[in-house]
Amino acid sequence: MFSNKLNIVIKIAKQAGAFLIDRLNSGKKISIEIKAVNDFVTEVDKQAESLIVSLLKKSFPDYGIMAEENYSDKTIPPNLYWVIDPLDGTTNYIHGFPSFCVSIGLCENKTPLMGVIYDPTRDELFCAQTGKGAFLNGSPITVSETKNMQGALIGTGFPFRNFAIMEKYLDCFSSVLKRCQGIRRPGSAAIDLAYVACGRLDAFWEHGLHPWDCAAGSIIIKEAGGTVTDFTGGKDYLFSRTFIASNTIIHNEIQEIVISSMPLKYPF
Ligand code: IPD
Ligand code: CA
Ligand code: CA
Repeated sequence: MFSNKLNIVIKIAKQAGAFLIDRLNSGKKISIEIKAVNDFVTEVDKQAESLIVSLLKKSFPDYGIMAEENYSDKTIPPNLYWVIDPLDGTTNYIHGFPSFCVSIGLCENKTPLMGVIYDPTRDELFCAQTGKGAFLNGSPITVSETKNMQGALIGTGFPFRNFAIMEKYLDCFSSVLKRCQGIRRPGSAAIDLAYVACGRLDAFWEHGLHPWDCAAGSIIIKEAGGTVTDFTGGKDYLFSRTFIASNTIIHNEIQEIVISSMPLKYPF
């Protein structure tokens, strides 16, 4: 049913997910490094990334790589490239809180063409390819039919490294909360995006995401009938650090609320 390429990536994501679970259940201490305030990387993130990168390179030697733990040159690779988050939800993983995943996207310039998100705690595999629809464990998925914010369950990510935007974020949070049914913050952006794609969430916004958090999720949402934009409603959602996704129907509504309270430039 899926292309060979997608099947290979699914296999790799599942292999990396199994590694995450085995390592968590092994009872062995996991060493943790602090990248910045509240920004952690474990030996498991690095090992999972090496595993994914080596397997992808073996099958696709000509493709570029943008992987979270080794993204030093800050440039967009030419031609097709894999965008990899080997462990999205590291803080959850460290605490054994079951919302973390492997996320692998395939992009060309700033456009995601293929995406695979694997949640190994629930054995849920989300995937999509341009023009071929979106799937959860092999079955087609679509975004919700929720008509307005009043009926919506919304996902978000809190500011946790750079507190300069905290006041504005809390204003935005308060405005969204007053307009919708509820807000959730499970702690893995990639899983949140997969949930928008399958209708468990109606929309999502976060300030400060990186391409590896949202490349795979973006194509899965689009193929499920959803809409993904930056805060201005434009297409620079992978690199602008401003991200909104929705079931399409409520996109304008949530975008208006977000843009009226959140800054467009991330204050580094
Ligand atoms: C983080 C998670 C979190 C989101 C952060 C991401 P990491 O990824 O997706 O939900 O709020 O912005 O950086 O660091 O666990 O891979
Ligand atoms: Ca991430
Ligand atoms: Ca990560």
